[in-house]
Amino acid sequence: QSMPEQERRYRASIADIETTSTGPRRVPERAEIGDTFAGTPDSDPALAANREWAARAVASEPPSLWSPHLSSTAEVDDVVRTARSAHQSWAARPAAERAAVLREAARELDARREQLLTVMSSEAGKTVGESDPEISEAADFARYYADRAEELEDGPMSDGATFTPHPVVLVTPPWNFPVAIPIGGPLAALAAGSAVILKPAPQTPGCVEAAAEALYTAGVPREALQVVRTDEDEVGQHLIAHDDIDLIILTGATDTAELFDGWRHDRAEGSRIYGETSGKNALIVTPSADYDLAVADLVQSAFGHAGQKCSAASLGILVGSVATSERFRRQLIDAVRSITVGFPADLSTRMGPVIEPPEGKLLRALTTLEPGERWLVEPRPLDDSGRLWSPGLKEGVRPGSFFHLTEVFGPVLGLMRADDLDEAIELQNATDFGLTGGIHSLDEAEIDAWTERVEVGNAYVNRHITGAIVQRQSFGGWKASSVGPGAKAGGPSYVAQLGTWSRDGLPA
Ligand code: ALA
Repeated sequence: QSMPEQERRYRASIADIETTSTGPRRVPERAEIGDTFAGTPDSDPALAANREWAARAVASEPPSLWSPHLSSTAEVDDVVRTARSAHQSWAARPAAERAAVLREAARELDARREQLLTVMSSEAGKTVGESDPEISEAADFARYYADRAEELEDGPMSDGATFTPHPVVLVTPPWNFPVAIPIGGPLAALAAGSAVILKPAPQTPGCVEAAAEALYTAGVPREALQVVRTDEDEVGQHLIAHDDIDLIILTGATDTAELFDGWRHDRAEGSRIYGETSGKNALIVTPSADYDLAVADLVQSAFGHAGQKCSAASLGILVGSVATSERFRRQLIDAVRSITVGFPADLSTRMGPVIEPPEGKLLRALTTLEPGERWLVEPRPLDDSGRLWSPGLKEGVRPGSFFHLTEVFGPVLGLMRADDLDEAIELQNATDFGLTGGIHSLDEAEIDAWTERVEVGNAYVNRHITGAIVQRQSFGGWKASSVGPGAKAGGPSYVAQLGTWSRDGLPA
């Protein structure tokens, strides 16, 4: 099987992390500051081609937006009516035809890489190393869901049954993956034959519009994919609760899912929200681990996009002698210190700004220590914007504390200690969430025991815990990290769950 483009790009962007690995017993006594993260990610030709882009992105203006901002319930009704009628003709097209449009969309997304990188940097503060694989992920979704569309009519899933798509799907994505998630949901729904209303997060409408344009050029009718903006006021509530919206695909905070679910409570059809929500994710490191790899993966998982990922590692759980290893701690501190923080369009930047000046839980995590905790690397604001922070690393996070159990969504990694693997798994499973998690161990029995017991949707062994690859690591959570039936994005059943199945007129 060839390596998916997303993974190839991702590997290119972290190549400078992985090169330091020399195996568990031969690591240098002390990693030099800058060893691990200071290189520019341009060793790969695909990324070198982005050099000129970076210069232009620095000079670029914020995007001017074309999607309507809905300001009355009547405007919402018009949008929903348009979608219902567009669904008829879109669903009537043979699946092979819809699939062809999606494959063309993949090519268009690829062709617009420079434009997308620019807007992802300027609007979302996302670095090249993070944005570049995300664009490939969006294209991977298009190709993957195109194949799944064809299976709806003729594949193992159908087995003589007939698929009827939900007519109108509303997609409400987050700002942190401003292209792949906003476009992945619609691509799945369009593959199924649904019409889509796409409501970007208020922070990143320009990214969503730029990606939607690729789909229009590829042949997706504008009425079958409408991008609209609303506030979360009565107009937004009217949209969310609309009787003629059959399904909401939501990616966002658990609180938002609960709010939307409440608004949709009284619908005759039931609420029907499929969602991927918050996480509080941990990576366990056992004494058998390759420390080089564990450090690189912890740092990448915790500080990629400044920790603003539902999948991010917020906790490192150090088992037994790892917790007291001066070598491990020294390597981790040096790796965190060597992260270059700065303007996201600058190719040497490893970590860009957070989306807004921190407040609430994130501000607390950046500025306060809980009892027992101690900074190993103290986070600091780096400029007047309030958005640019250096990364934070602390030890001594106690079981049951604020930092153990709360998603903070920013650049802070907390370390916990466990006497043995059993205790580590208990700490990992103790949160309400169950999105991602990882273990670094070279001991098969440990890996088996962990895999058996860990309560997360995406469980990674000896790998960073963000950046799931379409098809290979379909993405979705358990517990409070998931809403609805739970087929995973980028996985085999995702499109097939966006409608109903019947055989001889009866539900199948
Ligand atoms: N799919 C994203 C990741 O895996 C959220 O990091």
